[in-house]
Amino acid sequence: MTIQAYGLSAELSGHTILYPTNLDFKPGERVGLVGASGSGKSTLGHELVDTLRARGASVAHVPQSPDEALDPLRSMAFHWREAEKALGVAPDHARREMLFKALQIERGDLRKRPWGWSRGMQQRFVIAMALIGTPDLLVMDEPTSALDPVVAAGTMDLLEDYLKDRQTALLLITHDLGLAARRVSRLMVMEAGRIVEDAPTSKFLSAPETQAAKALCAHRNWLELPC
Ligand SMILES: Nc1ncnc2c1ncn2[C@@H]1O[C@H](COP(=O)(O)OP(=O)(O)OP(=O)(O)O)[C@@H](O)[C@H]1O
Ligand SMILES: [Mg+2]
Repeated sequence: MTIQAYGLSAELSGHTILYPTNLDFKPGERVGLVGASGSGKSTLGHELVDTLRARGASVAHVPQSPDEALDPLRSMAFHWREAEKALGVAPDHARREMLFKALQIERGDLRKRPWGWSRGMQQRFVIAMALIGTPDLLVMDEPTSALDPVVAAGTMDLLEDYLKDRQTALLLITHDLGLAARRVSRLMVMEAGRIVEDAPTSKFLSAPETQAAKALCAHRNWLELPC
């Protein structure tokens, strides 16, 4: 079933930071959200997750900073147990081992609190938590920003594998148009609190229409893709 959210909006101290926005995702669809820093991508991600969860939809969220997902006073083991409980799945040691191994955090000590793990390890831990179940939608906000390029590529490959056999839709929020372009079939661009362009990835890259999309394409930092 298509996931729809209408009229998402946000204000901060009397200023609109997200104008009323409608989003929809087909089952299994992979969508990228790109745009300049401060354009409202994370705000839109949060509004989308909150709105869908309030409606009872199953949504996994990897926030931009692991601090938003991890309580500094709780052990990593506690976070993992809570994530399993929230998803209504039985504890499964083998699944945890598999995810930790794939994300290269198998040597992390679960008895420690978040600050006992590096930022990159925390980020991968939060990604692993998001991949425990089979949500209707997975919202990932800059999921690889604290990872080195090799681990980042491995993490995206794991995500690809995970999504292959599932109907889970993906919203990938990123500054990195090159990364998004390789992984999603549709790209949306945000500018000053509005989605100003929404197009299939190939069309977006070959014929960007808005100034914001043209600027992103012009400042791409990858070589392989025509744009
Ligand atoms: N806690 C906050 N206090 C003040 N301003 C905020 C706060 N959170 C967001 N904003 C403002 O809201 C707007 C949107 O922020 P948001 O974090 O959604 O942008 P973003 O596109 O995710 O940026 P980035 O690419 O840097 O992560 C920005 O103008 C930002 O300055
Ligand atoms: Mg952000």
